[in-house]
Amino acid sequence: MRQLLVTSALPYANGHIHIGHLVEYLQTDIWVRFQKMRGHRAVYLCADDTHGAAIMIRARAEGRSEEALIAEMSEAHQRDFAGFGIEFDHYGSTNSEACRAVCHEVWAALRNADMVAEEEIDQLFDTEQGTFLADRFVRGTCPKCGSKDQPGDNCGSCGATYSPVDLVDPVSTLSGSRPEIRGAAHLFVQIEKLHAFLDEWTQSGTLPPESANYLKNFFLNEPLRDWDISRPAPYFGFEIPDSPGNYWYVWFDAPIGYIGSTAEWCGREGERLDDWWRSDATEIHHFIGKDIQYFHTLFWPAMLKTAGFSLPTQVHIHGFLTVDGEKMSKSRGTFIRASKYLEHLDPEYLRYYYATKLSSRVEDLDLNIGEFVARVNSDLVGKVVNLASRTAKFVAESGLSPGYPGDGGLFDRFAERGEEIAEAYDKGDYGKAMRMIMELADLANPYVEEKAPWELRKDPARAGELQDACTVALNLFRTLVVYLAPVLPGLARKAGELLGEEIVSWEQAKHPLVGRPIAKFAHMMQRVDPAKIEAMIAESREEAPEAAEDAAGPSWDDSGEALAANPIAPQITIDDFLKVDLRVARIVAADEVPEARKLVRLTLSLGGETRNVFAGIKAAYEPSALVGRLVVMVANLAPRQMKFGLSEGMIVAAGPGGEDIFLLSPDEGAVPGQRAG
Ligand code: MSP
Ligand code: ZN
Repeated sequence: MRQLLVTSALPYANGHIHIGHLVEYLQTDIWVRFQKMRGHRAVYLCADDTHGAAIMIRARAEGRSEEALIAEMSEAHQRDFAGFGIEFDHYGSTNSEACRAVCHEVWAALRNADMVAEEEIDQLFDTEQGTFLADRFVRGTCPKCGSKDQPGDNCGSCGATYSPVDLVDPVSTLSGSRPEIRGAAHLFVQIEKLHAFLDEWTQSGTLPPESANYLKNFFLNEPLRDWDISRPAPYFGFEIPDSPGNYWYVWFDAPIGYIGSTAEWCGREGERLDDWWRSDATEIHHFIGKDIQYFHTLFWPAMLKTAGFSLPTQVHIHGFLTVDGEKMSKSRGTFIRASKYLEHLDPEYLRYYYATKLSSRVEDLDLNIGEFVARVNSDLVGKVVNLASRTAKFVAESGLSPGYPGDGGLFDRFAERGEEIAEAYDKGDYGKAMRMIMELADLANPYVEEKAPWELRKDPARAGELQDACTVALNLFRTLVVYLAPVLPGLARKAGELLGEEIVSWEQAKHPLVGRPIAKFAHMMQRVDPAKIEAMIAESREEAPEAAEDAAGPSWDDSGEALAANPIAPQITIDDFLKVDLRVARIVAADEVPEARKLVRLTLSLGGETRNVFAGIKAAYEPSALVGRLVVMVANLAPRQMKFGLSEGMIVAAGPGGEDIFLLSPDEGAVPGQRAG
């Protein structure tokens, strides 16, 4: 029996799970279920990846704590995974005491091994937001080619890579202000000190050959660059114990989250962490996408090696999802959230479809919608479920034949293929496994056609023949379901209920079931309804915020009618203007005022305090849709007593009135209480 510790990458807490992520989590879940069915001990661990600047900034923008944000996301992630039948043995968080403790341990080991160096580096600092800016929060003019509005790390126009401090006219995307250059001491891990070890380890068969070759040619012929693993405050993460005011960079503690999650699981199960992370008896398998291989094939083994943990036995690397040949796109509606999929379609469809497309190679994988429908309908419904739905009802009363009938060697042929199919699963060649299983299904269906139980049943004298034919068909069905069970746990459960024996082990494919009752046939899987796919895509398109615009292009109405209807007011001085105190506010509650035709009662948060405001926007906005959004308010307007209560300010909106009212919204990044104007 093998002892396997299996992980998927830890999803970022700043976004929802989408069908791209699912390539990985389904691939891993299938592998774990397969290993468990083979009688091995497999533990599947994951966690949310919670730290970093992006989370901090988003929490600020939403006016809540990072802890509140990550708690909500963790719940959403786990709900989505459960909806797809992805079963973790434990789901933790990098923001846990268990993870912090292992970070301390790894850090002490790196210090001991003299692998940490301090170096002063220049970084851009946003003085308005009071934060250093990660590369992705700066834009400016490319220092090489002069293209405007380029990101902080490399130019989209000429491809040059540079440091954000080299940008000409840099602008912070958080505040729109010009950041200044500030020096800060960062801590670096000198992985070059493990050059020889990493060279050997990456070539030792642990990685897919494509990845190993890539590393050999491009990385290991020159010295490995020091890895910058600290970030100065403010940062959401763990403070570095011997460097106060500095935090570990999110990618330092993210993989350590694998061990942290294991430690929590061990605590719960009464296991010893060292049996899982410091023992040759345990294989460690990571499943990751190709975008994060450097972290897992260079930095991570360097850390594990230094701290005396086991090294990964295998890093399984997959490619990226495309939909109908193109990158997932919000405007095309193909950026589909897991939760949106589940509103419309059976998760088993996607589990099967991805399985048909997955191999052990590092290849991108295309979700072709037409093929998705055809595969599921023809393979699962047409070839597999059909075997049971066409036969089970005829033995509902008699049960299965007392001995296994002659079937021309079909059952034995099915049983013999088991090892070959298992080998394909074990290697990650699910596509090959699915093809072999469907080849078997193609042998079973002609048997049923030829026996035609629906004819046999018309002749009471042939009742024995009928029972035998159905016994064979149901046993062939059962073997197919055993082989498909890692992919289709839902189908396996229903088949188990029909046949009165739960499907749990690969071995079950070796022995037919005989002489036992059959439950009443209950529906197992519906054909894919293309209309549901269309609805899912249409809704994904609508719910994507920028989607409408990038699909159609902006539609401008600059005719001047609005200006003519409402000419510009007499001039004022800047002092006049400054009397009006405009503030960013968040709508934290919005309620109907039943007695008032036009009014909505808004509770506005200015950060430290709240205001009650009645706004005449009922015809234009559904109150519940307003909750959470940012608006601009006149904060120093004299309160006004109204019939329904005191109104303590005004929100700023445009438009003539009625349904044509448009609230002004601050761009992302603004926080309640900030002054506008
Ligand atoms: N937080 C890091 C991983 C830390 S692991 C110590 C991260 N998170 S992620 O949410 O962006 O991605 C999680 C996993 O999903 C990654 O392995 C990534 O490759 C995979 N995928 C994300 N989008 C994907 C596609 N569109 N297609 C296939 N896999 C994708 O990276
Ligand atoms: Zn350029």
